[in-house]
Amino acid sequence: RLRTVPSTADRRMDAGALRAAVAADRAAGLLPFCVVSTLGTTGSGAVDPLEPVTELCRSTGMWHHADGAWGGLGALVPELAAAYRGMDGLDSLTVDPHKSLSVPVGCGAALVSDPDRLRAAFSFRASYLEGGDDVPWMSDYTVELTRPGTRALKLWATLRHLGRSGVVSLLQRYQDLAAYLRERIGEHPGLDLCASGPLPVVCFRVRDSGEGPRTDHAALAARLQARGHAYLATVEHSGETVLRACICNYLTTTADLDTLVGEVLAVSEQLAGVE
Ligand SMILES: Cc1ncc(COP(=O)(O)O)c(C=O)c1O
Repeated sequence: RLRTVPSTADRRMDAGALRAAVAADRAAGLLPFCVVSTLGTTGSGAVDPLEPVTELCRSTGMWHHADGAWGGLGALVPELAAAYRGMDGLDSLTVDPHKSLSVPVGCGAALVSDPDRLRAAFSFRASYLEGGDDVPWMSDYTVELTRPGTRALKLWATLRHLGRSGVVSLLQRYQDLAAYLRERIGEHPGLDLCASGPLPVVCFRVRDSGEGPRTDHAALAARLQARGHAYLATVEHSGETVLRACICNYLTTTADLDTLVGEVLAVSEQLAGVE
């Protein structure tokens, strides 16, 4: 009962395909009730178009949730704001401060436009829990009864330390570092950038020389990780495994990115030598 919606060439959700999928399900007697958009896809940093999805949800009685676990806070960055237009129309949104804000794990947040719905779904008072309602009981809003206060404290401390302007400049810094890395990759004749969204995840591949076997990017990433100087993941893009650098640590510098590019080239040469 789960439908994966195709994406367009820029790796965002294809709103037309979503509309067609919903219409097909409804015609088949099914009742689609929720669409999950992504604000900052893990694989390519794309931000789904919110407004057409909300419009469809409103006209068909569906809930519009956005997974902004990694990229939800990008809405605060002026150069990204246009991509996030329509956030105020969401029914719910997840944001993980343990990702872009480097708050220690696990610190995720679910935000809802109408908290009364959560209360209606989750509120349960056993007889031994009777008490006044002058302050909200957080246990009325989720499945958890007892919870560690330190989860909120570490987020509070981070926000208190950074302030709103500090959060924006941290996220802008990640944007700038990603732009630097894209530039370094773009200018190197042996590397190719892959299409990706506006958030700071940079996907790329080692260009094949045309002679010998194609580069095994999974092997390259594994060997690079084992050398211990940089960390690079891989991701599948249209059936092809490519390299993926996600910039989300406040200590990262341009020198680290130079090291990363140097490591990729060194390991790629090593692999070519082995084969
Ligand atoms: C877009 C997105 N959603 C959800 C998750 C899962 O997050 P969590 O750390 O809360 O399990 C990830 C993790 O990478 C993610 O990138």
